Amino acid sequence: MTQQPSTVIGGRYELVERIAEGGMAIVWKARVRGAAGFARTVAVKEIKVEYRSVRQYIQMFIEEARIGTELAHPHIVQVLDFLLEGETHYLVLEWVEGVDLHDFVRAFSYLEQPIPWPLAVAAGVGALQGLSAAHERVAPSGKTSPVIHRDVSPHNILINQSGTVKLSDFGLARARDRAFTLTAPGTLKGKISYFAPEITKGQKASTLSDQFSMGCVLWEALAAERLFEGISDVEVFTAIRSGEVKSLKEARPDLPDRVVQAVHRSLSLAPEERFPSARAFAADLSECLRDLGGGLYDASERLAAAVLVARETLSNFEPSTRISASDMNLVTMSLQIDVDSATFAGTTEVMDAQDLPEES
Ligand SMILES: Nc1ncnc2c1ncn2[C@@H]1O[C@H](COP(=O)(O)OP(=O)(O)OP(=O)(O)O)[C@@H](O)[C@H]1O
Ligand SMILES: [Mg+2]
Repeated sequence: MTQQPSTVIGGRYELVERIAEGGMAIVWKARVRGAAGFARTVAVKEIKVEYRSVRQYIQMFIEEARIGTELAHPHIVQVLDFLLEGETHYLVLEWVEGVDLHDFVRAFSYLEQPIPWPLAVAAGVGALQGLSAAHERVAPSGKTSPVIHRDVSPHNILINQSGTVKLSDFGLARARDRAFTLTAPGTLKGKISYFAPEITKGQKASTLSDQFSMGCVLWEALAAERLFEGISDVEVFTAIRSGEVKSLKEARPDLPDRVVQAVHRSLSLAPEERFPSARAFAADLSECLRDLGGGLYDASERLAAAVLVARETLSNFEPSTRISASDMNLVTMSLQIDVDSATFAGTTEVMDAQDLPEES
């Protein structure tokens, strides 16, 4: 049975609120308490019951959690602790107060506005910086020992309220892939649309396959539509393997050519035609932001503002989601975006909760 809120695990992590259920874990917002009233919010991932009995999965999960603790970087969600309580494994992570990229993009579709490209590109640059740090990891032995993410997807890119982008769930997909080949093939549905073509042909995941996935995430965020679609896994795989990437310029005529070229290059069918590294991809995208003036710092200021808008928009349109709207006045945000000068302004109109449509 799933733990109820206010359960304490490891003697010190109080599970406060169940916030999401992902592919392999239930995600909790939790509090860890120390001396003198010290308290800190963390995220706790409770490994789903169906994985408990797969010993190989649990061993790999522990191994990946260990590597995760070594990946300390501002653009990577920090793994803080790993616990076994009863028969359940828990991963304790840095808490990211903000939105994931999937919800961020959804918020703009509610507002019926294309995501301002500097925001999507800034999110991409942040995530790529985290990815680069993992790809360039040096093991304690001193040997370069890349960590491949394997599951770069909009759900695993979090943006906090300061506009800092954080990539999460490093390497955990490896454990999950193994578990699924052992147990239930096909359960990865939904995630496969971010796979690189070579992965669909059974080749090993690499830094370049992670780059392709990031390109796919960016393409979709900018175009506000799916890139590789199909009614079955086979159809999605066929679309990815074809090497045909719909024109981003057609979907977003306002994009600078350099952004379009960079995203398309990362989505090259042949891995050697992509950027040589995630860092090189990030550098190219950063240049696009620099061309606007303001550079990265300015972009993260705008991301921070947009995260607030996204959260309020989601709570407005989906009152049952993470941000509870029941006790507060709801704010309808409208955005005015001038992409040329990359200015970004929000106007607010306060609305009473009773004016909203009934929650279904
Ligand atoms: N450290 C965190 N801080 C705040 N929210 C988080 C954190 N980690 C995850 N979340 C939220 O919980 C959701 C579910 O996360 P989870 O990683 O379990 O599933 P997923 O990302 O959808 O799939 P996957 O199993 O492939 O990672 C995320 O989309 C995110 O919104
Ligand atoms: Mg995740």
